[in-house]
Amino acid sequence: MTTKKTGGLAGVVAGKSAICTVGVEGKGLNYRGYSIHDLAEHASFEEVAHLLIHGNLPTSTELADYKNKLRNLRQLPDELQAVLQLIPANAHPMDVMRTACSMLGTLEPERATDDQSQIADRLLACFPSILTYWYQFHRGNAINTATDDETIAGHFLHLLHGKKADPLIERAVDVSLILYAEHEFNASTFAARVTAATLSDFYSAITSAIGTLRGPLHGGANEKAMELIEKFSSPDAAEKGLREMLANKDLIMGFGHRVYTVSDPRSDVIKSWAQKLATAKNDTILVPVSERIEKIMWDEKHLFPNLDFYSASAYHLCGIPTLMYTPVFVMARITGWAAHVIEQRSNNKLIRPISEYIGPQPREFIAIDKR
Ligand code: COA
Repeated sequence: MTTKKTGGLAGVVAGKSAICTVGVEGKGLNYRGYSIHDLAEHASFEEVAHLLIHGNLPTSTELADYKNKLRNLRQLPDELQAVLQLIPANAHPMDVMRTACSMLGTLEPERATDDQSQIADRLLACFPSILTYWYQFHRGNAINTATDDETIAGHFLHLLHGKKADPLIERAVDVSLILYAEHEFNASTFAARVTAATLSDFYSAITSAIGTLRGPLHGGANEKAMELIEKFSSPDAAEKGLREMLANKDLIMGFGHRVYTVSDPRSDVIKSWAQKLATAKNDTILVPVSERIEKIMWDEKHLFPNLDFYSASAYHLCGIPTLMYTPVFVMARITGWAAHVIEQRSNNKLIRPISEYIGPQPREFIAIDKR
């Protein structure tokens, strides 16, 4: 390990990886050498999933086969449906994802002979079915777990809204899944690798990752960003509110980054989608409010938006409930987590750092009746 800075492992190189580069020159992002801009512009999420989980961009025949395979993995076992019915209606959807992933690991456990990428594909295919099953069941709505939609984005939106997705909205979600797919040694991926490194099973590694992603300093920031943005009905109101929050030293969710120093390369991509969606939906508030927040954050703190900030408006305009924003992140990041678990296992070493002790010096033990 090389230590450049201290605190929260900032700047620590904690291992080698061939999957992703983050923050080259403070701003770049590549998945297996391909620029995020090229992938978001020209690829589908399924192509990116194949790249991350199976190691290469598919040919058109491979992609058709892969989409077909994923379509056939969308159904949920009856026992998992029963568990989803038992999870309270007011549970956080991230708890639903975490519990369902763990439950699936009891129903379809990993055996030594299994192809681990098969489990990755299974989770990738059925996470949208899991989330929407629980959601629709507790609203007394018709429940479907599998559609014949070609894409994961289309499948998710179909199950969520009960009808085939509008192509613009489907592509917006597709691009956002590409942007969220992978990000090197971020907290949840690192958690997955730590779990995998003990030679635990695939589901345990992904369950650890989901629990880690849930927090607002990581994946939960997109949900919190929406809660902030929707407080304001105009850019001026946003400016006033933001200045008060900054004076109060509040954290503004969706800004700042541990690795990027210049900008988050994903932010402009999702911002342009938020703008497109706002135009299509005649929404004249969300984007101007977000832009004013962005301006104040830059002027006052020199902080730029990360992917979570404009994802919030984009998802809102796609009709996705706010509490589902981080679960949608799970639907995307399963690809990156899986790639890292597979990579960790290919050259495994237990991950076990040491701490600097700052507690009491050795001292005499006093029996309970003498204290
Ligand atoms: N709002 C307000 N101030 C922020 C901020 C934000 N979003 N992000 C960083 N800062 C400030 C910190 O308060 C700190 O100020 P100080 O030096 O006066 O104490 C300084 O900038 C450095 O931040 P720090 O928390 O030490 O950086 P970090 O590398 O540990 O944290 C994040 C990175 C992402 C956790 C942090 O920027 C953050 O909490 N952002 C909001 C949550 C978020 O959007 N998470 C998603 C990340 S993709």
